[in-house]
Amino acid sequence: MSVVGKPVPHESARGHVTGEALYTDDLLLRFPNVLHAWPVCSPHAHAWVTLLDAAPALSEPGVVTVLTAADVPGEGDTGSSRHDEPLFPKEVMFHQQPVAWVLGETLEAARLGAQRVCAEYEPLPAILTIEDAIAAASFLSGPCRIADGDVSVIESSPLKFDGELMIGGQEHFYLETHCAIAWRDESGGIAAHSSTQHPSEAQEMISRVLGIPRHRIAVECLRMGGAFGGKEVQSNPWVAIAALGTWKTGRPVRVRLTRALDFALTGKRHPFLARYSAGFDTDGRLEGVRISYYSDGGWSLDLSEPIMWRALFHTDNTYKLPAAELTGLICRTHKTSQTAFRGFGGPQGMVVIEEILDQAARRLSLPPDVVRERNFYRPGDITHYGQTVKDADRIQTIWRQLKVSSEFDRRRTEIERFNQSHPHHKRGLAITPAKFGISFTAQFFNQAGALVLIYRDGSVQVNHGGTEMGQGLHTKIQQIAAHGLGLPLEAVRVMPTRTDKVPNTSATAASAGADLNGAAVADACRQLCVRLAEVAANLPEGVPFAQVCEAAYRQRIPLFAQGYYRTPNIHFDPKAGRGKPFHYFAYGAAVSEVEIDGFTGDYRLLRTDILEDVGESISPIVDRGQVEGGFIQGVGWLTLEELVWNVQGHLATAGASTYKLPSWSEMPEIFNVDFLQRAAESGVVMGSKAVGEPPLMLAISVREAIRDAVAAFGDGGPHSFASPATPERVFFAVQHARTAKRTSNDLKEVIRR
Ligand code: MTE
Ligand code: MOS
Repeated sequence: MSVVGKPVPHESARGHVTGEALYTDDLLLRFPNVLHAWPVCSPHAHAWVTLLDAAPALSEPGVVTVLTAADVPGEGDTGSSRHDEPLFPKEVMFHQQPVAWVLGETLEAARLGAQRVCAEYEPLPAILTIEDAIAAASFLSGPCRIADGDVSVIESSPLKFDGELMIGGQEHFYLETHCAIAWRDESGGIAAHSSTQHPSEAQEMISRVLGIPRHRIAVECLRMGGAFGGKEVQSNPWVAIAALGTWKTGRPVRVRLTRALDFALTGKRHPFLARYSAGFDTDGRLEGVRISYYSDGGWSLDLSEPIMWRALFHTDNTYKLPAAELTGLICRTHKTSQTAFRGFGGPQGMVVIEEILDQAARRLSLPPDVVRERNFYRPGDITHYGQTVKDADRIQTIWRQLKVSSEFDRRRTEIERFNQSHPHHKRGLAITPAKFGISFTAQFFNQAGALVLIYRDGSVQVNHGGTEMGQGLHTKIQQIAAHGLGLPLEAVRVMPTRTDKVPNTSATAASAGADLNGAAVADACRQLCVRLAEVAANLPEGVPFAQVCEAAYRQRIPLFAQGYYRTPNIHFDPKAGRGKPFHYFAYGAAVSEVEIDGFTGDYRLLRTDILEDVGESISPIVDRGQVEGGFIQGVGWLTLEELVWNVQGHLATAGASTYKLPSWSEMPEIFNVDFLQRAAESGVVMGSKAVGEPPLMLAISVREAIRDAVAAFGDGGPHSFASPATPERVFFAVQHARTAKRTSNDLKEVIRR
């Protein structure tokens, strides 16, 4: 009767489609006297605030008050890694940064009031690109560094080349924009609903800003309409403003960003610049690689450091780097503070190594898939940071199986034939692998708690530290708890995430939500089973669960338990750049086929085949959704979604009309998703593997398929284009390929913008 591994629908699927599932802003109806907040935004990317006079706003009908630095009883800062994010800045650090907040009876009153706040600025020069930041030595942190082996080997390698790759950022575009509602509870403390991946940090920030201890604060997250890393720390300022407004006025306060404000004020995936040199032997085996990464961190540190580390950790992807020297610098620019986004720096590192391998293959006139294969890790190999890849044979297994199921070789020949007979349309095919390390690289985050309550009628409430953002965590938790107690799914209800049920939680992130919280829930269920088994032993056989619970209650046996889990044996020393940061690796591979129109650079994704290693899937429908959604989100990042900041530092692409998202029409025409069979992972709850982020990186197969098709317009030689591969960039790459002549040992021309 186990419900683990069963293809059950997402626990809120019905609510999602009927509209019955509530999100933070839907809870507004419960607060009839709520005040609405609107920011006073700076018109400069970098400036001193020389004057801030709120008085004129107060004569706007419906305006209740204006929040400024003078209202902050504690510390007016919501920086998560460093205290470097003033809520009311004296020095404006990015275009549209809020300098004050107006509270009104209606949103419109607050908005009109914000226009009447008198703010004056002294503009300062702004740094808006990675190149400018490098020139001005404007860095938030770094260098992070991992080095292994002797990279001087590159100089004497038979094939040596250098290059530079610019990788664009990405807007999260969760359907639900940022939102928080705070109010005073009857004890005089603060309660808040927040659309956040990290309720405990929301609690911490309210405590910091109001200067009150955390036990006076309770934060709840019912569910999010998507987060994708964008609500890991970036939800902090909004809940802090709501709490501060409540503190000052005594009334509930709602902060909800419009889509345009969400675009303008919140951080995105980090743009990266990579400068590399690589050395290969004549068979395409990598001998050494040196890469300098520069990420665009924006105005504050945020999560930029661990994101840079993850880029360094994932530069190997599935390949043995015999010698590597990787460094990362985080640029400070006058832009939004770039933040976590599905993959967390891993994707950027993997795009770079795949670029390098493809360059090598085309210089050596070898098929790129053969060069990739030749560089795969073998079981027992050790990564450049010192972790053993103990199950590296899975890479080969997945690769071989996928090549067969996708009919790679047959289609390769077919595509060559197609390309010979079509001068203006070319098809491209590529297979790329992915290996993604699972665990937070900061060791202490890898813990979770749970509180499982059984009522006397045998029904169950589960509380755990994770948040639901659409990824299906609550569904998996429900399955784990039902399995753990031997109950049907309906007997278990997963409660909204609350800081007063499970304290000191980690963000739901790093794809580890089910691994950590699921293990904590399983732990609580095991304790309850032991207690209930003793009670049941004295009852006639076959007594229903509810009767056992009632009997336990009467015997004064507690029907609730706390569960706890910490990931064993992980550690990393950033000074040495060595350790075992990951509990295990998630693997996968994808084959993608595209067709490019040489007149326009436009392309279609004809077919994608994916084979993903999710271990023993707890919830196959949920996992399939994660693989499909993650992949398409990656395709958007690498091919369509382009963030354009103008010379004033204003984000010109701040809405769905100018920022192209993938939708139904960008789905591959044929889309086959499969899971690796008999893949149980030991030492993880239910033998299952994390699936939230890894599939995003399979989209690199589309970028490489586009490159393959572009090359077919010329002689197949090496070429490069910046990411995203928008039709414009592809068009220029085609022009270049049509005229370029293959040279064996240097690629001087780099097409960057
Ligand atoms: N899936 C949906 N539908 N919505 C999301 O916001 N976030 C992704 C991924 N899948 C996300 C998602 C990110 S960035 C992470 S880290 C994981 O889900 C977090 O959840 P998990 O740890 O439970 O997998
Ligand atoms: Mo995900 S980027 O770890 O929230």
